[in-house]
Amino acid sequence: MSIATIATAPIDGQKPGTSGLRKKCKVFMGAHYLENFVQAMFDGIGGVEGKTLVVGGDGRFHNDVATQTILAMAAANGAARAIVGQNALLSTPAASNLIRTLETDGGVILSASHNPGGVDEDFGIKFNMPNGGPAPESVTNAIFERTKTLSQYRIWQGAPVDLSAIGVTKLGEMQVNIVDPVEAYVDLMQRLFDFPAIADMIKDGLKIRFDAMCAITGPYARAILEGALGAPDGTVVHGTPLPDFGGMHPDPNPTWAHELMDEMMGENAPGFGCASDGDGDRNMIVGPGCYVSPSDSLAVIAANAHVAPGYSDGLKGVARSMPTSAAVDRVAEALGIDCYETPTGWKFFGNLMDDGRVSLCGEESFGTGSDHVREKDGVWAVLMWLNIMAATGKSVPEIMEEHWARFGRNYYSRHDFEAIETEKADALMADLRGKLDSLKGHVEGPLTVAEADDYEYLDPVDGSTSAQQGVRVVFEGGARFVVRLSGTGTSGATLRLYLESLETEKLDLEPQAALMSVIAAAHAITCLEQHTGRTSPDVIT
Ligand code: G6P
Ligand code: ZN
Repeated sequence: MSIATIATAPIDGQKPGTSGLRKKCKVFMGAHYLENFVQAMFDGIGGVEGKTLVVGGDGRFHNDVATQTILAMAAANGAARAIVGQNALLSTPAASNLIRTLETDGGVILSASHNPGGVDEDFGIKFNMPNGGPAPESVTNAIFERTKTLSQYRIWQGAPVDLSAIGVTKLGEMQVNIVDPVEAYVDLMQRLFDFPAIADMIKDGLKIRFDAMCAITGPYARAILEGALGAPDGTVVHGTPLPDFGGMHPDPNPTWAHELMDEMMGENAPGFGCASDGDGDRNMIVGPGCYVSPSDSLAVIAANAHVAPGYSDGLKGVARSMPTSAAVDRVAEALGIDCYETPTGWKFFGNLMDDGRVSLCGEESFGTGSDHVREKDGVWAVLMWLNIMAATGKSVPEIMEEHWARFGRNYYSRHDFEAIETEKADALMADLRGKLDSLKGHVEGPLTVAEADDYEYLDPVDGSTSAQQGVRVVFEGGARFVVRLSGTGTSGATLRLYLESLETEKLDLEPQAALMSVIAAAHAITCLEQHTGRTSPDVIT
């Protein structure tokens, strides 16, 4: 039993993307791959000597083995303490909560979020800061730089820790606290939301279907919905986390959560449907016959959050990612609070929350959350909706109808074109960027381009800038489309086309029909078919 120093050499391509380093599982299982990155991560944050780290993940294939490697390396690098979820499980928001409330020095979260799991699927790792949020680009860049020069890593060689037993143990000199992954999180939710009111609504007959997609939120949703709130057993479906997510693609959107969608669009739909993703930070909300787009969900929460006890003082401000619809902007205006726009990636919200500028954030990519943690939070969004329903006595369709009648409706959809050859996707973007200056005044069907640019963000808190965050083309009258390449995929390129138009009169159109001319204009202006050979998307949200 000793600390070993293992010689290694830099491995190409260990650059963290939108949310940490994501690769195929087998890549992570390759010689030194995980070890190199973990050592670079520890070095990149200035070492872990004497520090306390939270460690856990979403339970996907390799989660357990990788956790043991990280613990062994933390011990060998002199960490004082590791706080680990039982069986190496922690949802991303629960990890963020522990990192914050236990005043640790940060945490290592193992997840590829909503990407499929299994030996042939995806794995991922990211570092979260002491504030509980994903490391900013300055830190991920430092980690990446370190991966290029690494020549050795340190690892404790000895028996692995038994992660099934809650309690305190040791690995070398490092203390290991194995904690219940659910308990502290449930306490937090109980402080933020009116559990008695939600429990009454359930007792009065509201039926809920929570689809955990065989991923991490099963135990959390069961403890809260079927436990604390008294919903019947079976409310949570696909509730046991499995290493391959039971073959499901744990991304809560209408395409991948189709079982839930079928149920909610069917004749005997329950009153409330919801789903969360692989690591528990995303959410989808569906009422009977009524899918709520994430951008609308954010706007509804902004307009109603004050009914929940944790938000009764009102919101400090709100933030959304640039491709998210402007529905929340209209609510912020009515409430007289600030609304910030950031690039895609939850990490950009951290500074705004830490600086006390915003308390609610959201993204079109099914992420909603608040400053209770520094990650988006799927179960939180579900409880917020249930609290709003309990407080107003209204159903999901009624809430949506009234919201649109008051604020107007931002028709919105995202079209994803997946697994495009990288060169083709890059060529489309380069071509589009090249013609931005000449687009103003360009007419496409009934639409005239008012402005076109490549979004650049200036962080109002630390003054940092992030360029090339997505091309946006805005038409006269306010309709727009945005194009960017996903930063979370693991094979080829995913082109995301975000479509939006504001309507204040006709509020009950089908979104794809309402957006028809914007879709046609986007295809024409980006020369989508010429570049990619594609005419229709793989995923529509
Ligand atoms: C993750 C991030 C989000 C981001 C989403 C989509 O869930 O945490 O902040 O919006 O991925 O990112 P992408 O780069 O794939 O569009
Ligand atoms: Zn996720």
